[in-house]
Amino acid sequence: MKRRLYPLVLAFLLAPTLAQEGKALYGQFCAGCHGAEAQGIPGAIPPLAGNPRALDETHVVQVVRQGLSGPLEVGGVTYNGVMPPMPQVSEAQARAIAQYLKGLSGAEPQGPAPVATQGDPALGRALYLGQRPLQNGGAPCQACHTVAGLGFLGGGSLGKDLTDAAKRLGGEAGLTALLTNPAFPVMREAYKGKPLTEAEAAALAAFLVQVSQETPRPSSLYLGRFLVAGVFLLGLLLIYQAAVWQLRPKSLAERIRSQLRR
Ligand code: HEC
Ligand code: HEC
Repeated sequence: MKRRLYPLVLAFLLAPTLAQEGKALYGQFCAGCHGAEAQGIPGAIPPLAGNPRALDETHVVQVVRQGLSGPLEVGGVTYNGVMPPMPQVSEAQARAIAQYLKGLSGAEPQGPAPVATQGDPALGRALYLGQRPLQNGGAPCQACHTVAGLGFLGGGSLGKDLTDAAKRLGGEAGLTALLTNPAFPVMREAYKGKPLTEAEAAALAAFLVQVSQETPRPSSLYLGRFLVAGVFLLGLLLIYQAAVWQLRPKSLAERIRSQLRR
């Protein structure tokens, strides 16, 4: 009779420990995308706090182990991204994380509301290009990114082309949230201790929205780049071949011919 109680008692004792462990695991595996507070990024990454589906342990474990893509809706905002499967998270760990997520909800209904600040696109452009320094000393975006129409072959290539970022990442509100709290490791590092101010993030978001509306065919930019790079490489190849041809060991016939010429 008593034996049957053991598992229950154990579960009762373990529950808080599991939630603690879940919190650490969440920080390690999930916070990079879903945010430290599980608040998500409006329009880009769904919140897990205050998300009814995140209360469903089976769903959470399945998403973690198998990934998820396709449209979904949380709190009136639609998402259509890709979460990769995470085989590095064991099923037991996924359950621990699910426990932690259960504890979160109720605390906060929907994460922070999207920032309402209206940005000034002209200011955003100057900040993007580095014509106006960022207040906290962060690097200008152009160091790593390109957008169409701002100088051919201009900008860095570490980050993505941002021409249509506004369309993919939830417009001005989504971008502002993303920029105040970047989810991408490289950018997070680059702006660590030098965050964008809210006004700067809003201005940059407004600028990117403007760019996405002004530039209908960013693919032609890529094509142009490929052409230039292709022609350049072809040139190099021809020079290389000519050099190899000049330096090749002379064949017997050629040696005889040049002997005869003397
Ligand atoms: C690389 C970024 C990334 C990481 C890391 C990540 N997620 Fe996700 N997650 C997403 C995206 C994007 C979606 C939305 C997918 C879609 O739109 O179909 C999502 C969706 C989900 C959903 C479904 C939400 C719903 O409303 O149904 C759950 C649950 C979830 N993630 C849990 C986790 C947990 C737990 C972890 C850590 C083990 C984690 N995610 C790590 C990006 C990520
Ligand atoms: C140190 C390099 C670096 C700097 C500086 C930088 N970024 Fe990024 N950014 C990245 C990387 C790397 C990624 C993520 C991987 C990718 O999208 O290529 C990224 C991703 C993004 C994304 C998401 C792109 C997408 O389509 O998924 C946006 C938007 C963005 N950056 C905007 C900005 C803005 C605006 C600035 C200036 C305030 C900026 N970045 C400065 C490196 C940088």
